[in-house]
Amino acid sequence: MRSTLGLSCNWTALLYFAAVLVCLLQPAASVKEHDFKKCHQSGFCKRNRAYADDAASQSSTWSSPYQVISDSPSFKDGQLHAMILKTINANSDTARFPVTVSFLKSGAARVTVDEERRQKKDIKLRHNSPVRKERYNEAENWVIVGGLDLDKEAQVAFWDKSQVNIKYGPDSKLEAVVKFSPFEVDFRRDGATHIKLNDRGLLNMEHWRPKVEKEKVEGRETQEGEGDNGEDDNGEDESTWWDETFGGNTDSKPRGPESVALDISFVGYDHVYGIPEHTGPMSLRQTRGGEGSYEEPYRMYNSDVFEYVLDSPMTLYGSIPFMQAHRKDSSVGVFWLNAAETWVDIVKGKDSVNPLSLGLGGKTSTHTHWISESGILDAFVLMGPTPRDLTKTYGELTGYTAMPQEFAIGYHQCRWNYISDDDVRDVDRKMDKFKIPYDVIWLDIEYTDDRKYFTWEQHSFPDPIGTGKQLESHGRKLVVIIDPHIKKIDGYSVSKEMTSQDLAVHNKDDEIYEGWCWPGSSNWIDCFNPKASEWWKTLYKYDSFKGTMENTFLWNDMNEPSVFNGPETTMPKDNIHHGHWEHRDIHNLNRLTFHNATFEALVTRKKGELRRPFVLTRSFYAGSQRLGAMWTGDNQASWDHLAASIPMILNQGISGYPFAGADVGGFFGNPEKDLMARWYQAGAFYPFFRGHAHIDSRRREPYLLGEPYTGILTAALRLRYSLLPSWYTAFFHANRDGSPIVRPMFWTHPTEEGGFAIENQMFVGSTGLLVKPIVEQDKESTDIWIPDDEVYYDYSTYQVQNTHKGKHLTVKAAIDQIPLLMRGGHIFPRRDIPRRSSAMMRFDDYTLVVAVSKGGAAEGELYADDGDTFNHEKGQYIYRKLTLAGNKLSSTDADGRDIKLTEAGSWLKAMREVYVDRVIIVGAPAAWNQKQVQIESEERTWSVKVEYHAAKKGRAAFAVVGRVGARIGEDWSIKLA
Ligand code: NOJ
Repeated sequence: MRSTLGLSCNWTALLYFAAVLVCLLQPAASVKEHDFKKCHQSGFCKRNRAYADDAASQSSTWSSPYQVISDSPSFKDGQLHAMILKTINANSDTARFPVTVSFLKSGAARVTVDEERRQKKDIKLRHNSPVRKERYNEAENWVIVGGLDLDKEAQVAFWDKSQVNIKYGPDSKLEAVVKFSPFEVDFRRDGATHIKLNDRGLLNMEHWRPKVEKEKVEGRETQEGEGDNGEDDNGEDESTWWDETFGGNTDSKPRGPESVALDISFVGYDHVYGIPEHTGPMSLRQTRGGEGSYEEPYRMYNSDVFEYVLDSPMTLYGSIPFMQAHRKDSSVGVFWLNAAETWVDIVKGKDSVNPLSLGLGGKTSTHTHWISESGILDAFVLMGPTPRDLTKTYGELTGYTAMPQEFAIGYHQCRWNYISDDDVRDVDRKMDKFKIPYDVIWLDIEYTDDRKYFTWEQHSFPDPIGTGKQLESHGRKLVVIIDPHIKKIDGYSVSKEMTSQDLAVHNKDDEIYEGWCWPGSSNWIDCFNPKASEWWKTLYKYDSFKGTMENTFLWNDMNEPSVFNGPETTMPKDNIHHGHWEHRDIHNLNRLTFHNATFEALVTRKKGELRRPFVLTRSFYAGSQRLGAMWTGDNQASWDHLAASIPMILNQGISGYPFAGADVGGFFGNPEKDLMARWYQAGAFYPFFRGHAHIDSRRREPYLLGEPYTGILTAALRLRYSLLPSWYTAFFHANRDGSPIVRPMFWTHPTEEGGFAIENQMFVGSTGLLVKPIVEQDKESTDIWIPDDEVYYDYSTYQVQNTHKGKHLTVKAAIDQIPLLMRGGHIFPRRDIPRRSSAMMRFDDYTLVVAVSKGGAAEGELYADDGDTFNHEKGQYIYRKLTLAGNKLSSTDADGRDIKLTEAGSWLKAMREVYVDRVIIVGAPAAWNQKQVQIESEERTWSVKVEYHAAKKGRAAFAVVGRVGARIGEDWSIKLA
């Protein structure tokens, strides 16, 4: 599109005008897509795809040139070491690649392959480059926080000249078969193969080689996506080995070609999920053409994609290279720990019917091809067998979601920009006037003095502390934005300190890199440098960042990093980071290091003030879940974008980063009122719930819409606030074992095939609340897929749904209704007094809702802590298990603890005065139709009132017990009959 326009420009003014018009009429999306590389424009991706095509075209004769030297393997203490030899050419030249297969106690296995010559630094760099000679091998230092203990019980089960079999994992149920010639690893569970590495022979570690200077072929111009040479002596396509141009930017490659690629097959698996962030379906599409398939591989290269397109494998702001495969009775996964630009091709195909294939013949398998630009090969293989096991093991490795500040799961009111102290205070007052609950108001970049972070625009924000105090009076918070680009200007102390101490990213010539972002000319902090992170901390101290106080929290944006004049709107790959690693090696990790520095800065803001940080990030990598929330960036105020947000958020959840949301209302554009209504109803079910809008969009705070819309938005917000105890409990589960906060059907019902591709309805934690937000215009009903034969009740009317497993249940949903069901068998907590903010609800009593199962039972949980400090790590929390069995409803400590009052800190002590107010039992049998019931707690017994409502016209019978008056933190029981 660009070059066409360029050509036209040179012709006549008329043509130019026509071309501009064409551009304007094109959906913005198609223009933007061309600003980003396709696989054929990315040298290493193109080469590896061609390699795969070559292999496929010679399928019967193709043999991978990688072989394990048969006497090289050794096995000890859960680790297999060996040497792989790659045959480079017909002269039998070879390159050596040490491989290690580690068997971990968690049941995961890890395969790493490095390049011997580069380990030994026995290579020459071009252009006198100062970068490191080794392949990048430090991703694990940032990403992996545990789970690496070796399974020393792992044992050799078989070993000969052609392969070695290792049994490992719980009860030695798992087995890795390492074949030598060619190198291949099969992972088996209970004797059946689930994952194969290199079975299609696409392993490709581009070994180091010196550049052989050749004369340029006369008359041949270098093309976009090409460097300066054509083919090498082995007939390989050398055109992008030594440098590569895209969008007018040339990437010098001091180490030449160095990609790492591998095919990974999921044997007998039809569905694969994960590898966010993309806008396509949750169950990933095939990528090599054909009906319903993409033409391009999924790309992971964190980028600021302006006006991103939907249903596309193109890259977005963040990436998590974790993929899980799922079928009726099994889940397995692969985590590809590589921080460089990565592409993943997916093809699915029927397995050949082979009597020896252990019953898998004729099933569909998914074949994936992972292609990264540089670094070592480092792949973790997770053998499930359930989705829950996968998220748990992945979390053991990369960390679990941090327990959030409790306010962070309330509602956030944002726009680019609230323009002054007065504006912020006015919005705050109006939210109160209209009785709309909210917790946080946000300041985008315009609060700063000329986009110099850590400063305030004095005329508009003369008194941020006064503003902060007004907010604090209702327990509310202020979030301010700080980006990683620092304005390059004289007299700005932050810039001076950063550059004079050499804490910024360098360019390829090892000088401080300069690029363009919001402030104009800028430099970028390099958080790979521990000194930079230490310095970053000093900037956030209250006496340094004046105008901030205890209720100020942070937003890190533009951290892909976004560089307006950089290649693909980011940093040149040949930039240099601390430790002399190229930006190429660490691009996708970059964000995590910056997020981490801000997180640490908030922890150390003030001596003795140990509070949980809240930092929102746009860009992310595996491990970012430990540091705060993410959102899906600059979406649009359209129904399509509303719809796309649900699978995107679900995908984040199953990929270990569940604290996710999308801009409610849509960032670009002006949503019509119905869209606003539906978006708030959906947003009330995002783990991160924030309204946000572009600077050019009209104001749209909920009270501006007018009735009935303001009322509809307020009702959605109130629903969120009443359910905060359930949301907080769901966060607790994510924190303990990695369970998604909102859960897709395949995760909760892994044996129900009908649900594997469903991506527009979700369960909230373990509450049994099943929601399907309306995401289409003028839609007043929807079909909810029912995953089991349990009873389902309508959330508001208690209507019993006439349904069964696999059925699509039609639910009415006028514009003021949210399709929300309660699954029988669950108990969930609420706080029903409407208040202004979550802080004001902190010590409110609880309502417990019991949805009685078909079998007359129910179970649930409540987790609570002070929502602010780290005292929960020292046992200062309440965690109740709620059980309905027979005629008895009871609450016991879910961790089996007996908390002594003497051990209680101030929050736990205050919670002594927090009680169970009402218990609402939906589906209560007629036997419970009585006037009073008995409560037993703390060695006392007392009676309380019951209102029993018999079943009527399809509505379930229900009983309201209360006021119960038992302390929430104590054991209690209610005898219902
Ligand atoms: C880009 C972010 O995605 C958006 O949310 C923000 O408003 C602008 N940057 C301005 O800071």
